Amino acid sequence: MTNFAPLKNTNFIRALQKQPVDRTPIWMMRQAGRYLPEYRAVRKMAGNFINLMKTPDYATEVTLQPIRRYDLDAAIVFSDILTIPDAMGLGLYFQENHGPKFKNPIRSEQAINNLEIPSHESLSYVYQTVSQCRHELNGQVPLIGFSGSPWTLACYMIEGQGSKDFITIKSVLYSNPKILHQLLEKNAKAVVQHLKCQVEAGAQAIMIFDTWGGLLSRAAYQEFSLRYITFILDSLKNQLGVRSVPSIVFTKGGGQWLEEMAGCGANALGLDWMTDLDLARQRVGSRVALQGNLDPAVLLAHDSVIQNEVNKVMTSFYGKQKDDTGFVFNLGHGISKETNPDSVSVLIEAVHRF
Ligand code: CP3
Repeated sequence: MTNFAPLKNTNFIRALQKQPVDRTPIWMMRQAGRYLPEYRAVRKMAGNFINLMKTPDYATEVTLQPIRRYDLDAAIVFSDILTIPDAMGLGLYFQENHGPKFKNPIRSEQAINNLEIPSHESLSYVYQTVSQCRHELNGQVPLIGFSGSPWTLACYMIEGQGSKDFITIKSVLYSNPKILHQLLEKNAKAVVQHLKCQVEAGAQAIMIFDTWGGLLSRAAYQEFSLRYITFILDSLKNQLGVRSVPSIVFTKGGGQWLEEMAGCGANALGLDWMTDLDLARQRVGSRVALQGNLDPAVLLAHDSVIQNEVNKVMTSFYGKQKDDTGFVFNLGHGISKETNPDSVSVLIEAVHRF
């Protein structure tokens, strides 16, 4: 492993480990994205999103853009969760204004049997980007690596594209759970390897995005999503040993199962804006740190509204409880592309001033 500069701002890592911090760390999901004019410029140069993501120089540049512009406490490597199914041969592409699609979605049991765990080589552009970002960050803030959850990846792999209800995979779940488990098991092994390689390339924390876990019933969530997330975190700890890094699990719509989630082995849980931070802390106790949870739509409002809503989130976490460690400020989901970049400065200043 290469030698990287020592980390100067450790607030994010310390918050994940529930240690005291100098200030509440903040970063934003999708902080590198279309709301930034400098992102749109590089994306234009790259020609399209896939090329942007697969070219380490471009991906590194857009990872660093929000870090240069704002006083953030963490960077997240610019990539996508759908790199894994793409590397499994599903053929990822993006149709302008239609989101991600696969040329070869999974349509049979045979297709699942034929899937192979991606080779290191097929995702090496991600690991190269991680190393390059870590090098260029020069210890300024920590770098987050990430992956989708096996369930959320399977949603796209079976549906072939985004959906409101992912009804195709849900019908498989009830009519042929065995075959779905085979797919989830392959995805889980691929995720372990992908996260491990990102840590070895220089990622200092990892996050699992379970964007569609909230579509499941309580029992189905345990069986088809949380169980595999637990397997991943457990395997990573075994395989990385002393090189293990702190982890965050974000299930959108997962507020109902925080108690169960707190036992999955993650250091922190990401919360969406439907979940009350104060109640969340009461429910999970001091077992995990919490990350969240401002509604990204707040950033579309006037500056005074943003400041007011930030104060509400901060008071919700720090207001009543005795244990005030383990909080990372974030949005409850990705930042909207309609956001004015100046509103983000107002947000960050309000968090740091609180
Ligand atoms: O947070 C960051 O700054 C890191 C980058 C990041 C992206 N995607 C870049 C991206 C991360 C962490 C993701 C994760 C991701 N990708 C998730 C899980 C998180 C979530 O948002 O729920 C999901 C479900 C995907 C799949 C995906 N990729 C979708 C649905 C889309 C279309 C979104 C849209 O608004 O059009 C993407 C494309 C994508 N990934 C963009 C970005 C910045 C927009 C692409 C563009 O420039 O046109």
